[in-house]
Amino acid sequence: MASPLVSIALIIISVAVLLLPCRAELRQFVQGTKADRSLSFLVVGDWGRRGLYNQSHVAVQMGRTGEKLDIDLIISTGDNFYDNGLTGVNDPAFQESFTNIYTAPSLQKQWYNVLGNHDYRGDVEAQLSPVLTGIDSRWLCLRSFIVDADIVEFFFLDTTPFVDKFFTDPEDHHYDWSGILPREKYLKNLLMDVDSALKTSIAKWKIVVGHHTIKSAGHHGNTKELAGTLLPILEANNVDLYINGHDHCLEHISSSKSAVQFLTSGGGSKAWRGDVSWWNPQEMKFYYDGQGFMSLQITESAIDVVFYDVFGDVLHKWSTFQRVYSAI
Ligand SMILES: *[C@@H]1O[C@H](CO)[C@@H](O)[C@H](O)[C@H]1NC(C)=O
Repeated sequence: MASPLVSIALIIISVAVLLLPCRAELRQFVQGTKADRSLSFLVVGDWGRRGLYNQSHVAVQMGRTGEKLDIDLIISTGDNFYDNGLTGVNDPAFQESFTNIYTAPSLQKQWYNVLGNHDYRGDVEAQLSPVLTGIDSRWLCLRSFIVDADIVEFFFLDTTPFVDKFFTDPEDHHYDWSGILPREKYLKNLLMDVDSALKTSIAKWKIVVGHHTIKSAGHHGNTKELAGTLLPILEANNVDLYINGHDHCLEHISSSKSAVQFLTSGGGSKAWRGDVSWWNPQEMKFYYDGQGFMSLQITESAIDVVFYDVFGDVLHKWSTFQRVYSAI
């Protein structure tokens, strides 16, 4: 039998192993599930236009679907406020495009929001401010953060600073880069933090959420900066889904080269751009160039993804399964 001293040393070492490598760089939140450990939620992106461009119609249908699925939370994939983010914490666009639009009872849940490039054209700190949560308690937006929901862990990432174009060719737009400079260091640290957080995750399912596409046939197409840096990390850590907005469409790509599923939900308001590039039909599971949103239902053994249009009609369904091992 090991001496008490050895046992104590072993306990200290195992606790240290559990805590290291440190994931503390990314703030972590805990999200409750239903009693059976399942979780359901909606995903909407590219939305804040004071109800215009069918934003209000999408919101109504989100409310109905949210009710049916008894959702636990809502995810926004960014571009929360058009055209230029918020001017400050007192910008009425916050109420006009969020509080007064997503009014259905089922949508009065926690919203987890990431920033899009349009949000970076305004006062970024305003969207990150707890003052907004004071105005509407559903609001939570950080640059990058983790949400631990038992069987599933979400990794929300700030993707805008990855995109070269916004730095080298910003056109007439001003981007608020305060807080992310020097850029190279910011990106390097973020990739390291995501990698170590994914490596230490013990969740059954891993979902990464960012504004920008990795793979997309839409107007903006692939984001090569993310495909080159982030995607290898997602693949190495068995991430199940990468969820994004940016392209104003609904889309599901299942690449033969990657186990990651690429889901775009960017149909929260203005859509119908009509410019779609050719994509290998074997990989393109679904593409819709109009408005709508996505739902996910997750249990220990399955993920069910559904896309809906502005009428709430189902456009596409996809499921994946994992073996559940008995605890004994
Ligand atoms: C609203 O949605 C309908 C149905 O999809 C579509 O025909 C119409 O063009 C949309 N309106 C706008 C302004 O996008």
